[in-house]
Amino acid sequence: MGKRVVLAYSGGLDTSVAVKWLGEEKGMEVIALAADVGQGGDFDEIRRRALVAGAVEAVVVDCKEEYARDFVVPALKANAKYEGKYPLVSSLSRPIIAKHLVAAAREHGAEAIAHGCTGKGNDQVRFEVSTRALAPDLDIVAPVREWGLTREQSIEYAARFDIPVTVTKASPYSIDQNLWGRTIECGILEDPWEQPPEEVYELTTPTATEATELTIGFVQGVPVSIDGKELPLHELIERVTTVVGSYGWGRIDMVENRRVGIKSREIYECPGSLALLMAHADLEDLTLERDLAHEKARLEPRYAELVYDGLWFSPLKQALDAFVAESQRFVTGEVRLRCEVPGRCIVAGRRSEVGLYDYGLATYEAADKFRHQDAEGFVRLWGLGIETWANRQVRKGETR
Ligand code: ARG
Repeated sequence: MGKRVVLAYSGGLDTSVAVKWLGEEKGMEVIALAADVGQGGDFDEIRRRALVAGAVEAVVVDCKEEYARDFVVPALKANAKYEGKYPLVSSLSRPIIAKHLVAAAREHGAEAIAHGCTGKGNDQVRFEVSTRALAPDLDIVAPVREWGLTREQSIEYAARFDIPVTVTKASPYSIDQNLWGRTIECGILEDPWEQPPEEVYELTTPTATEATELTIGFVQGVPVSIDGKELPLHELIERVTTVVGSYGWGRIDMVENRRVGIKSREIYECPGSLALLMAHADLEDLTLERDLAHEKARLEPRYAELVYDGLWFSPLKQALDAFVAESQRFVTGEVRLRCEVPGRCIVAGRRSEVGLYDYGLATYEAADKFRHQDAEGFVRLWGLGIETWANRQVRKGETR
């Protein structure tokens, strides 16, 4: 019996060929693991394909709830967007898949895990660093990085071994998808000057004809309800994705810096995540005390960078999680998301029982209870240093 390996299996061409290749070239017994992180698709069919390709075992793990609770929520609380734009779709799913690969390796007595990533991307970094953080004793095999096959050769390889893959009229795009959004790369998109053709989009096809509102209820930074109705988190995310996406809102076109030193042109569809991130950040504006809000805002880009760079399971990321979790104690309330045709989604209003907005302090109307007389002394002392500096220079006849 050869060494056992657990392969992160998607059902696509590369991972299907990898099943066979690991057996043929490495003499390994392959356990294919498909993780359902909300990408959609027929998992019975995916299982069947893995077995036909030669896997000794094919497991499907439904991770949607865990993914939403333990991976998406911390990122949402941290308002995490890489380079200020990308809500970390693929960056969030790799660590949870790695966690399940490791668990399966233990269960099935495997000595290694494998993934189908190329050497040019971030996902290899996330799979491997996460795996090493969780199980430093396991070996890691990256067939696609090793075999050096072109796409044509992979198709031939699959045909030679009767591996069932459906790449007759191959899409030129490379897609990754989960609850938090959809990523699209390759083909014409590799020219950053070219506008993405409409055909690349799936979650943001504009079909809505009239305006609508969604009231998102948050408890301690976690979205829990839509229009007062509580929903399991992954269903709530799916619902917001569907509604907001139908307005054609939530697209990102960016040139980003990969961890491996390459600039790449990326197209993202993130109607649900961008809308929830916008609502969450807005509720924080209402509920976070100023110093906490400002300090948190300084840490957020760092948090996003760590997650992007594959450091989900790392001491700094965990410490930042603790800070972020503490910051969410009073992020409870409601946000009105308003969607309008064409292509608009805005925060139309927000409210919270524990909000720090005080009408009596803010109003210019009769209800004003602000102590205006306090302002004079405050402002005088606030500017005292500047005044002293200015006077000194006037005395010396200097101009500013
Ligand atoms: N550039 C994005 C990231 O690094 C998207 C990666 C998409 N992954 C994929 N295997 N298609 O997070």
